[in-house]
Amino acid sequence: MMDWSSKNVLVTGGCSFIGSHLVEGLVKRGARVRAADDLSSGIRENLDDVMKTGKVEFEEVDLLDPHAAAKAVEGMDVVFHLAATHGGRGYISTHQAACSTNLALDSIMIREAHRAGVEQFTFASSGCVYPTSMQADPSEMIYLTEDLVKPPYEADDLYGWAKLMAELSLRAYHEEHGMKCASVRYFTAYGERCPTNHAVVAMIGRAFLKQDPYIVWGTGEQIRNWTYVSDIVEGTIRAAENIDDGTAVNLGTMERTSVLQCAQMILERTGLNATIQRDTSKPTGPYNRVADNALAKELLGWEPKVSFSDGLDKTIRWYFDTHDRDEVSTDFEASLTGRGFEKAGKKRASAA
Ligand SMILES: NC(=O)c1ccc[n+]([C@@H]2O[C@H](COP(=O)([O-])OP(=O)(O)OC[C@H]3O[C@@H](n4cnc5c(N)ncnc54)[C@H](O)[C@@H]3O)[C@@H](O)[C@H]2O)c1
Repeated sequence: MMDWSSKNVLVTGGCSFIGSHLVEGLVKRGARVRAADDLSSGIRENLDDVMKTGKVEFEEVDLLDPHAAAKAVEGMDVVFHLAATHGGRGYISTHQAACSTNLALDSIMIREAHRAGVEQFTFASSGCVYPTSMQADPSEMIYLTEDLVKPPYEADDLYGWAKLMAELSLRAYHEEHGMKCASVRYFTAYGERCPTNHAVVAMIGRAFLKQDPYIVWGTGEQIRNWTYVSDIVEGTIRAAENIDDGTAVNLGTMERTSVLQCAQMILERTGLNATIQRDTSKPTGPYNRVADNALAKELLGWEPKVSFSDGLDKTIRWYFDTHDRDEVSTDFEASLTGRGFEKAGKKRASAA
């Protein structure tokens, strides 16, 4: 078990949805945290509450600049690397060039962390590293085990290839330089502060706007294992505590929920009596993506604690409490395919 109270910790992408929850989780464990973010999709206000503890330093910085990255890791014991050009499915499938910059960003962060001699480096990877051809048939009961990511690799879009390259780079840094590191493969996280470009929150937003017909992207048969953000944070911290050799571990529930089931759950919970309409012209991602989480249980003693039903209740409550209907409706459509800062209903912290 790591004694976090003696640690200086860097969280790159610290103003993001997951990053801001991770900063809070680390502060609760006693760490001093530097949150580095260029606010290209992160929102400074996500850190408002935790900044009050006096344990967090925020640095607005573009980590694609190697000198800035070197400065960000200076004096840090542990690094969690979450900064990325990323969005929901509507973004990553249509902005491959932008997502390719993650290849440089990850490489710079790994190199600078190694040079600075940090004790441990944990990388936010993704279910997008898994072969897409295995995830095509929603009627198949397939659970993705970590060992399925192997030659000949077949990642999901350039976003997934960049995640995969960072995982492989970390393994090489461990083998050749003894760098202590871990990769955590997140599977479709959701929860408070999740932007509208992710399916669950997009569907909550539609219910908030009382849309009828109520649109779902694709046939709605896509299966996901939506994983609540507190479980993602817990697994990420445990990975830093327990994995040193660059092993990549899935953080995802094994609950299988289709987009249509999710839509129905949201309509029931919000009391909206609308007709569901499928829009098959929209990007959907793979039709069957669910993690196997046995390795996380074995290596981290981790299991998801929040069921999809409970997490969805919390997320709906948060969304309805913190959004304004007029503001949401002004940029809702753009927010579905953007990087997150178009965050329907709330103002963006700063320009890109
Ligand atoms: N949300 C999910 O379901 C999910 C699933 C798999 C992996 N991930 C990964 O988890 C991490 C966090 O994702 P998220 O969904 O919470 O939000 P996000 O994708 O918006 O987070 C990325 C953060 O990095 C910052 N950033 C981007 N480029 C930067 C740069 N050059 N310099 C400094 N900061 C920069 C952004 O402003 C943002 O705060 C990302 O690495 C993402 O790829 C997320």
